[in-house]
Amino acid sequence: MKILVTGGAGFIGSNYVYQVLHRHPEDEVVVLDALTYAGNLENLKQLERDPRFRFVKGDICDAALVDDLVKGVDAVVHFAAESHVDRSIMDPGVFVRTNIIGTQTLLDACRRNGNVRFHHVSTDEVFGSLGATGLFSEQTPYDPRSPYSASKAGSDHLVRAAWHTYGLPVTISNCSNNYGPYQHPEKLIPLFITNLIEGKTVPLYGDGMNVRDWIHVEDHCEGVDLVLRKGTIGETYLFGGRSERSNAEITNLILFEMGAGQGKIERVADRLGHDRRYAIDPSRAERELGWSPKTPFLHGLRKTIAWYTSNEAWWRNVKSGAYREYYEKQYGSRPTPGVSR
Ligand code: NAD
Ligand code: TYD
Repeated sequence: MKILVTGGAGFIGSNYVYQVLHRHPEDEVVVLDALTYAGNLENLKQLERDPRFRFVKGDICDAALVDDLVKGVDAVVHFAAESHVDRSIMDPGVFVRTNIIGTQTLLDACRRNGNVRFHHVSTDEVFGSLGATGLFSEQTPYDPRSPYSASKAGSDHLVRAAWHTYGLPVTISNCSNNYGPYQHPEKLIPLFITNLIEGKTVPLYGDGMNVRDWIHVEDHCEGVDLVLRKGTIGETYLFGGRSERSNAEITNLILFEMGAGQGKIERVADRLGHDRRYAIDPSRAERELGWSPKTPFLHGLRKTIAWYTSNEAWWRNVKSGAYREYYEKQYGSRPTPGVSR
């Protein structure tokens, strides 16, 4: 199979490309990625000389380029997105452009070129926020509450519309919070690990009791691969790690594993509109695809700490330059509860 992978230079996309070429040695992959602040060719370095791999720098909103690339492939797996909630709060416009217009541009190209198979990678954040109990399932109504999740919800609807209206062969997967190698250090787990290596504090939002359902990126990628090959066209599958943790719990685990004390926690003001709890019921994927999350959280976290510890050059490079400006904007002026500056 020849696959066009959008966003393949990002965190999950790069992990997916490695996994696909490992699991299916006969496959070929073309990566289309704009190399935004989140995209990094270093993530794909091990494939530089692999004849099954090709990289194209470009924008998913570029209809002519997308059309050209879609012509030569059997399937599109769509990861490219603006993916960070905090950035969407600062500047929503680019999320609408990439996540909504970019997705429609890809769908149009798939339709124009003989109904190319399309898999859309989405998030559980489209379902909103849970109370203390309950789980998201494929039947949960959409209730996105951040500019990021609203733009991803919009893209999900457009993908479903392409199936219902034109019969484009699509599938969608909505996954919970990923962690693992190559994740940009703006996200919770790599931010906290790398800050501790740098001797800095870790900024915990609000009361630290927001809950996420953590899944190792390799488990998510395996799920995407199974949906692409075995999923029912027109259907949605949810992936999660069956591993709910509060942010405070994650923070304490990271501190403990890295030999740091409680003094490293900096309580900062809460995120605007901060969703309280996400948790996935992945039983449909388990039943219909034979998938299951295989990485126990503590094992995955230790592997991730080890990866960031031995790949310092990778994240130091990412954390230099424009990232510093972002960090200052996001955390520099953030009032710490109870502390006046
Ligand atoms: P990421 O931010 O690490 O990577 C996104 C990639 O998309 C980058 O390489 C970037 O350069 C590229 N990109 C951005 N705009 C583009 C454009 N206009 N044209 C072409 N390429 C562009 O994100 P990620 O964490 O790897 O997430 C990948 C996908 O998975 C996203 O669609 C996200 O919504 C979804 N998802 C992420 C998580 C998570 O926990 N990270 C969970 C569920 C779903
Ligand atoms: P994040 O990794 O940004 O993923 P998402 O917002 O998509 O769930 O954040 C995960 C959780 O960690 C979320 O509840 C917000 C919290 N968080 C902090 O407490 N401090 C931080 O510096 C960041 C980036 C996140």
